[in-house]
Amino acid sequence: MLETHDLHKHFDGFKAITAINFKLIEGERHAIIGPNGAGKTTFFNLITGHLQPSAGEVRYKGDLISGLPPYRIVKLGLARSFQRINIYPRMTVFQNVQVALIAQNNQHLHFFTRAHNLYKEETEDLLELVDLLGEIQDIAGELAYGKQKQLELAISLAANPRVLLLDEPTAGMSPSETAESIRLINDITQSRSLTLLFTEHDMSVVFSIADRISVLHHGEILASGAPDEVRKDVEVRRVYLGEEVGHASA
Ligand SMILES: Nc1ncnc2c1ncn2[C@@H]1O[C@H](COP(=O)(O)OP(=O)(O)O)[C@@H](O)[C@H]1O
Ligand SMILES: [Mg+2]
Repeated sequence: MLETHDLHKHFDGFKAITAINFKLIEGERHAIIGPNGAGKTTFFNLITGHLQPSAGEVRYKGDLISGLPPYRIVKLGLARSFQRINIYPRMTVFQNVQVALIAQNNQHLHFFTRAHNLYKEETEDLLELVDLLGEIQDIAGELAYGKQKQLELAISLAANPRVLLLDEPTAGMSPSETAESIRLINDITQSRSLTLLFTEHDMSVVFSIADRISVLHHGEILASGAPDEVRKDVEVRRVYLGEEVGHASA
């Protein structure tokens, strides 16, 4: 459904992404794992149009999307969240999602529009989906961190995507926030039949969500496969899990 062909990204000669041939299969929940600096966010930015490849291409349903601006890629059905929080902190939870729906539907707010009721039901439906109905009139910036991430998820879903891209969705979360996020991500991708691509450094999160994993290391995909296969891969264990595989302990 989403493919990259021989994708490269260099920053002033530094090779952040090298020759990535990647395939995302419709309906799967695919994790990109790899240590800090491996190139995970750069790879996301190349897919979503926030960066242009140095070489190679990205295709969605067969069509070339590299070169398109981010908003066009969102319109095609790929929505993402960012590693850092991306909400309007002074607006209410309701308004954050409402604004996203208005933007998505190209509505123009004008003097006569009863703006406060626009997309009311759709907004409430999305907030119910991410378990934020209880916080609907709260100021977004005052929510607990985990709830801000849930709000971000609702904002991403306002674009009505087919593919959801989440960059480190549980980074910085407490164990209970992480558990709640895992539950929501699994529920939502299933109930909306979404294809999921996510990056994550916490292996327990990866194994609770992903049905396929790709390991990124120094900008290259080292291994790709089902969680059990990747877990057993000797090379992956050596570079990513930091294990001294094959060395007898003294
Ligand atoms: N805009 C940029 N300019 C220069 N170097 C960058 C830029 N973005 C990322 N990098 C470098 O590319 C590498 C991969 O970064 P990143 O994709 O953020 O990794 P990850 O998300 O896996 O932690 C890092 O060494 C980072 O310093
Ligand atoms: Mg990153």
